[in-house]
Amino acid sequence: MKKALITGITGQDGAYLAEYLLKKGCEVHGIKRRSSSFNTARVDHLYKDPHERDVHFFMHYGDMTDATNLIRIVQEVQPDEIYNLAAQSHVKVSFETAEYTANADALGPLRLLEAIRILNMTDRVRFYQASSSELYGKVREIPQTERTPFYPRSPYAAAKLYAYWICVNYREAYNMFASNGILFNHESPIRGETFVTRKITRAVARMRLGLQRKLFLGNLHAKRDWGHAADYVRAMWLILQQEKPDDYVIATGEAHSVREFADTAFREIGVEIEWKGSGIEEKGIISEIRDQGSEVGGWRLEVGGQRTEDRGQKSEVRKSSGSDKRREAIDGKAVPSSEFRVPSLKVGDVVVEVDPRYFRPTEVDFLLGDASKARKELGWEPRISFHDMVSQMVREDLEEAKRDQLCKESGYRILNYSDE
Ligand code: NAP
Ligand code: GDD
Repeated sequence: MKKALITGITGQDGAYLAEYLLKKGCEVHGIKRRSSSFNTARVDHLYKDPHERDVHFFMHYGDMTDATNLIRIVQEVQPDEIYNLAAQSHVKVSFETAEYTANADALGPLRLLEAIRILNMTDRVRFYQASSSELYGKVREIPQTERTPFYPRSPYAAAKLYAYWICVNYREAYNMFASNGILFNHESPIRGETFVTRKITRAVARMRLGLQRKLFLGNLHAKRDWGHAADYVRAMWLILQQEKPDDYVIATGEAHSVREFADTAFREIGVEIEWKGSGIEEKGIISEIRDQGSEVGGWRLEVGGQRTEDRGQKSEVRKSSGSDKRREAIDGKAVPSSEFRVPSLKVGDVVVEVDPRYFRPTEVDFLLGDASKARKELGWEPRISFHDMVSQMVREDLEEAKRDQLCKESGYRILNYSDE
């Protein structure tokens, strides 16, 4: 049985990759950081009590900034494949934590590569480095390929640049199987809540249920080539199954702006947005609401309906109409809007505003990848469309929002982490 070691197992890609490799019949070992609170929510469903039979999923405490720990884990696990996904992965945060980002994202991969060398495992281990389209930064050509020169625009991208080249260097210097996947943005319902896509889908879902009034964003013009994480982890695996190590761009070849992403997400709940003004004065205003009926998890949208402030009294009315009815609606069965109304949105509401706090000192305006090499050599194709991905994210966020809604109605305090 092949053994894979994944750093960053608790992150979005780590979780998708672990599940994918387990399905392929691998034994999967993941490195997780010690945290003062639980940080394994994305992989908890894969965990089995180690005393049970047929356990193929294991976790080890570790950190990319701790070389001796990485050496020990590699020695203990004796992996055939190492997927280095761990990183301080937030571009904006890297401007505030530049040194730490360099330590984890640039020196971290070096430590792992050195661990392989120190343990005399260069001949048997295949190493995947999670490189990024952020390397292209201020792009030198459109679309970007494996041959496009890099121009990093953040401490994160500069750290990833070192990681990219150290991976290439160890391949050339020590004949190691070390490959870079230059992945363009990829998202999913378990994307970190502070990345723009999830921030939008989460806000849209919460607005739908009256839990949030407004969404504040930064640069609405930025364009990204957004794919789905499930498609992208398949590419990671394919990269390590090749005869020779090499570097590959993984992208959809389709770009959308942040504004378009928001339009698509709002459309999922039957809301059309009109954008008015420019620069920091630009606003997203509701121009039309279509009644989606039971299409959105059983909740009916009340056109021109009650505002969030009115909710207290409304929920009293609902309580007296019976908790079973409320439960039915939450479980996704359609309930006539006259019986079960949710406070919601109305035409003319300003639902998106620009907050310059989310601007970056140096921005990456436009990323668009050309994955021809991956298509030809790996036989890789993205399977999930942009629209389907946004739709899936909104729906899953609606489920989460419903849970919050239920807590709120039961008198529990819910927090709105909108400051991201
Ligand atoms: P993510 O959700 O932010 O996950 C990052 C993972 O790294 C988490 O498990 C995190 O642990 C862990 N981590 C952070 N610092 C660490 C440290 N010092 N030691 C050990 N573990 C550490 O990121 P992702 O979206 O899954 O991305 C995976 C990798 O691909 C990252 O390297 C990212 O830079 C790169 N990448 C991502 C994209 C994308 O669009 N998603 C595109 C290109 C490249 P905690 O859970 O404890 O925080
Ligand atoms: N996060 C965030 N929050 N971004 C915003 C916001 C906001 O409120 N408003 C606009 N944006 C813009 C950013 O300025 C950026 O241009 C774009 O939305 C995407 O931002 P993120 O979702 O934070 O992702 P990213 O492109 O900076 O970085 C992600 O993709 C890289 C691959 O290109 C991360 O996953 C990186 O780790 C990854 O390498």
